[in-house]
Amino acid sequence: MILFSDVSKSYEKKTVLNSISLIIKKGDLIFITGPSGAGKTTMLKLIYCSERPDSGHITVADWDVSKLKQHEIPELRRNIGIIFQDFKLLPNRTVFDNVALALSIHGMKSEKIRHYVNEALDEVKLLDKASLFPQFLSGGEQQRVVIARAMVSKPIVLLADEPTGDLDIDNAKAIMELFSKINSKGTTVLIATHDDNLFRASGKRVVFVNDHYIEKEYIG
Ligand SMILES: Nc1ncnc2c1ncn2[C@@H]1O[C@H](COP(=O)(O)OP(=O)(O)O)[C@@H](O)[C@H]1O
Ligand SMILES: [Mg+2]
Repeated sequence: MILFSDVSKSYEKKTVLNSISLIIKKGDLIFITGPSGAGKTTMLKLIYCSERPDSGHITVADWDVSKLKQHEIPELRRNIGIIFQDFKLLPNRTVFDNVALALSIHGMKSEKIRHYVNEALDEVKLLDKASLFPQFLSGGEQQRVVIARAMVSKPIVLLADEPTGDLDIDNAKAIMELFSKINSKGTTVLIATHDDNLFRASGKRVVFVNDHYIEKEYIG
């Protein structure tokens, strides 16, 4: 599903990733961890083509991401759900509209949009808050809206960058359970986190990035 082959990436003259290779199978749930600045976020950005590698190849399903032309990027991104801290909910839109906006398919009938949005909100157990503005939701609930927004277009891959960074232990656990549920329905899930509580005893694959390399891999 996702393949990194000999991928190197630097910003200006600073090397972040040095010739890393990684195979992620369809339907996997995998953690990318390592110290701050190790390159976790960069790895996710390379997958959805917001950064380009200096060398090497990245493929996602049938896309050779490292070779994608600018106009081909939206098609790739329609198939990737993204949960990033700098991609916040819009405060002046309701929960429903925040999720609906992510359905950027032109010409979709409002009835169909309502169906998909309600389905996504039901999945995260927030149907009853659809008409509220984000500020009236708890931190955990807001993050569940973010997940609904990422999942509403039924992506084949879900990328989550430090998805529990702002949450307490109970809310973090609930978010992780949601990811497991999403994964069990077939979506490939990648979670970048420095928080080892998330993957301890998870039984899932953990990739530890450090010093520009994948230093080790183990089962959490
Ligand atoms: N756009 C950028 N320009 C310059 N340096 C960057 C940029 N993005 C990230 N970096 C640097 O690259 C390194 C890796 O960053 P990042 O991928 O965000 O690591 P992590 O997510 O593991 O904390 C850091 O040293 C960071 O400061
Ligand atoms: Mg990061």
